[in-house]
Amino acid sequence: MKKGLFIRKPIRAVQTAETDEDHHQLKRHLGPINLTAIGIGAIIGAGIFVVTGQAAALYAGPAVILSFLLVAIICVLAGLCYAELSAMIPVSGGSYSYSYVAMGEFPAWLVGWSITGQILFSTSTVAVGWSGYCVSILRDMGFHLSPLLTSSPIAYSVDAGWHLTGAFVNLPAIVLVVLIGTMISIGIKAATHFNNIMVAIKLSTIALFILLGFSYINWENLTPFIPENTGHFGEFGWSGVIRGASFLFFAYIGFDTVSTLAQESINPQKDLPKGILGSLLISATAYVATALVLVGIVNYTQLNVPDPMSLALNAMGSSFAWLKAVVKLAILAGLASVVLVQTLSLTRVFLTMSKDGLLTKPFAKINKSTQTPLFSSVVTALCCVVISGLFPVNVLAGLVSMLTLFLFAIVCLGVLILRYLHPEFERPFKVPLVPVIPGLGMLACIGQMVYLPMSIWLQFAIWLVVGLAIYFGYGIKHSKLRHS
Ligand code: ALA
Repeated sequence: MKKGLFIRKPIRAVQTAETDEDHHQLKRHLGPINLTAIGIGAIIGAGIFVVTGQAAALYAGPAVILSFLLVAIICVLAGLCYAELSAMIPVSGGSYSYSYVAMGEFPAWLVGWSITGQILFSTSTVAVGWSGYCVSILRDMGFHLSPLLTSSPIAYSVDAGWHLTGAFVNLPAIVLVVLIGTMISIGIKAATHFNNIMVAIKLSTIALFILLGFSYINWENLTPFIPENTGHFGEFGWSGVIRGASFLFFAYIGFDTVSTLAQESINPQKDLPKGILGSLLISATAYVATALVLVGIVNYTQLNVPDPMSLALNAMGSSFAWLKAVVKLAILAGLASVVLVQTLSLTRVFLTMSKDGLLTKPFAKINKSTQTPLFSSVVTALCCVVISGLFPVNVLAGLVSMLTLFLFAIVCLGVLILRYLHPEFERPFKVPLVPVIPGLGMLACIGQMVYLPMSIWLQFAIWLVVGLAIYFGYGIKHSKLRHS
């Protein structure tokens, strides 16, 4: 081994390598509005439409509003750190590239590998959720798809362990991923247009729900605001608010993807912070307002259902039946845009890792006619096809949260390290109150990680071990920095 595992990439090398290779350039199309829409596209999905009701009914009661606020605060701390680093090092590797500069190659590989797991598993989870809604809408319209073609052939439960279900494949999930894979392969422009339409549909539906529902709030449903703890940690009371928050963390995942579109951004240093923080704040506002209307209309004890919004619309009266159909369509649009933006983002991270020699060369190839990383896009889509079509992804939702918290903690740490290593470097956006904000962000993320159950730590460890095998089997031998 020529150099240590913690060999750091010079910050200038990262910046110039990304801008010099003009024949490899991605197209710069994205302004602040598109970047914000991309952030919202990646954030608002299954979280708000599905899990809000469960978090209220099982853990927090009406104080699910506080749970949403609590996660928003943690995400804003991490979001500020992403904003500083993405403006300072505007490259498509996102947190992978920041860690390469701040901590060295091995931590950077772990970050890149964690992004890979986070995105593959979260998009597959969302694609399976999309499939469920698609089947339900088709059923409403009189088309019945066989369960053999709409669920995964492999399942896991605590009682039965791993077993075969008799189903063949989750076909709607595969169809969605193939369509999205085609879109991200065709070009960033087409993908952005599609995303903008999906975001407009989901935001306007949420706005309609909030505006129409507000006058139906029965304020008595909000008292007691924090129901008394049942005697078990995490079941109502303040511990319930905290458990509700870790449950809702999934709803905020996605704003970090904006940082990986740096090389397609027209003015990344100014616009990435706007896209990251703007999308986070808009989504947080939508979440808190939706949660207020939901627990205001329906008593929290009744909200443990897969479609809590429909329950609220039923309570508002039959004149809102049309809005129920619109909400279902918005959910389809919302979930599709999450899959689109997250897979798009993963292809950019693969591209950067491949340029560094840590992945094979084809991942870095930009196709001349589409000007997209075509190989990367196809491989990403194929992985999602296999995972969402065959596996019971619900068992992986906790791992997605774990990987995301790990990434956020690393990015907060990266801000602290780079302020120390490179105080002279120009920072178009600066996190205020350093070291307090990155320090708090890091501690909050580690705190939430510690709070996750042992089984998820085990999944995390297995994922990292697979990553180590790939790094020591391939990356360490082909790393450009190590052999330069
Ligand atoms: N935040 C995304 C969602 O809620 C992953 O679907």
